[in-house]
Amino acid sequence: MFTIQLLATTPSTTIHNGLIDLLIDSVEGGASVGFLSPLKRETANAFWQDMLREVGSSRVLLVATTEQSEVAGSVQLALGQKENGRHRAEVQKLLVHSRYRNLGLGRRLMGAIEIEARQRGITLLVLDTIEGEIAEQLYLKLGYVRVGEIPNYASFPNGRLWATVIFYKEL
Ligand SMILES: CC(C)(COP(=O)(O)OP(=O)(O)OC[C@H]1O[C@@H](n2cnc3c(N)ncnc32)[C@H](O)[C@@H]1OP(=O)(O)O)[C@@H](O)C(=O)NCCC(=O)NCCS
Repeated sequence: MFTIQLLATTPSTTIHNGLIDLLIDSVEGGASVGFLSPLKRETANAFWQDMLREVGSSRVLLVATTEQSEVAGSVQLALGQKENGRHRAEVQKLLVHSRYRNLGLGRRLMGAIEIEARQRGITLLVLDTIEGEIAEQLYLKLGYVRVGEIPNYASFPNGRLWATVIFYKEL
């Protein structure tokens, strides 16, 4: 049902617009992924442009599409840039469009990004997520180690502060 592809170059307009829609859908659905509601299209566009500029150098971006080429999900890897941290990367912005949730795509995207990490010689993944959300359970099921939580670290899109949980996984 879904194809997961590695974005290596500038994406098509369809994919680019789909990524914008995906981010807006998540934020307006209440996900704490770095933005407040209402998320303007231009803000979401600027975010993806920033991310896409790093693709191929310091960032790996996977996009899941449907058979109709609709963007259904995405996940990213921010590669360690410090001399002593090239073996590690941060998993960022695991997003599945609300239309396609609970179909196993989040799990598949995480599996795919781990393969990309291993292929690049990455041996340590870190990530964080808001406490108590579905993603926290997903990461635990995928073998990520819960380091602990930081109270009031980030807010939901409605501005309400909440704890963030830090995870790592050795590959
Ligand atoms: C977190 C998110 C990526 C999960 O994506 P998904 O495709 O729905 O996840 P999956 O279908 O692979 O399900 C993963 C697990 O979560 C469980 N799950 C998914 N939706 C659930 C729900 N609404 N209630 C309870 N459990 C749920 C599934 O049962 C599954 O567990 P299992 O594999 O043991 O059966 C998705 O909910 C999302 O995009 N949320 C908004 C953005 C976000 O919070 N991202 C995380 C940033 S760190």
